Amino acid sequence: MKTIINGIQLAYTDEGQGTPLVFLHAFPLSQVMWRPQMHALVNSYRIITVDLRGHGESDAQLWNFTINDYADDIISLLDHLNIAQAVFIGLSMGGYLLFSLYKNFPDRVKALVLADTRAQADSQEGKDGRQAMAQLAHKEGASAIADVMLPKLLAPFTIHQCPEIVDQVRAMILQTPTEGIIVDLMAMAARPDSTDLLSKITCPTLVIVGENDVATPVAESHYIAERIADSTLVTIPEAGHLSNFEQPAAFNEALRNFLTTHRL
Ligand code: MLT
Repeated sequence: MKTIINGIQLAYTDEGQGTPLVFLHAFPLSQVMWRPQMHALVNSYRIITVDLRGHGESDAQLWNFTINDYADDIISLLDHLNIAQAVFIGLSMGGYLLFSLYKNFPDRVKALVLADTRAQADSQEGKDGRQAMAQLAHKEGASAIADVMLPKLLAPFTIHQCPEIVDQVRAMILQTPTEGIIVDLMAMAARPDSTDLLSKITCPTLVIVGENDVATPVAESHYIAERIADSTLVTIPEAGHLSNFEQPAAFNEALRNFLTTHRL
């Protein structure tokens, strides 16, 4: 489905009935990464996935949007769908959106799932890396970005044993317009630090991380979970950064347990 949100056409899916679960994808991917969760949970919950602006089948614009703009899109989409409150699941960049969303719209959040993400802002070195990657995207396009990102997104186990997962992730990256990649990189480099927010998060929170995540290592998730009062940390074996896609059964079990334990 598609609708115009804040002047940009966004593609989304809305399937199933029950508590709304809203899934926010990573950089530089699309809502396709949540298919394993959609299939596993759609009989019990209302599942909403969305291609963020500049991704998948949503429109791309070249402008200095911020992570807050991306999060505002999600709130406007929920308004469009008449959803007052939801459980939000965000992986990596999706997690950055959740910090913005919780800070600005806490009443819309029933519970949070922060997967393979970090609360800190970028270091200067991190920002420089974003700038270099934006130049690469500008000069050589999404396939050069795929070459750089695949070893960061996927564990060595996945890369060597699961070629179909590698192919699907590469296809998602290739579908991302160059404008979308560049805007993401600028938005992530400019995002604020969210560490002070962590102790203010009062909703039930699940923190998930792949044990071999090199992009946001396990220590980042410990840092988050230690500061959120009502949180649980689950580590997913044989998964890298894209833990939900690499080990969907373990990820879905952690998610289901969380939802059931908190009667969500
Ligand atoms: C992501 O997976 O969304 C990215 O690794 C986030 C980042 O580059 O900080």
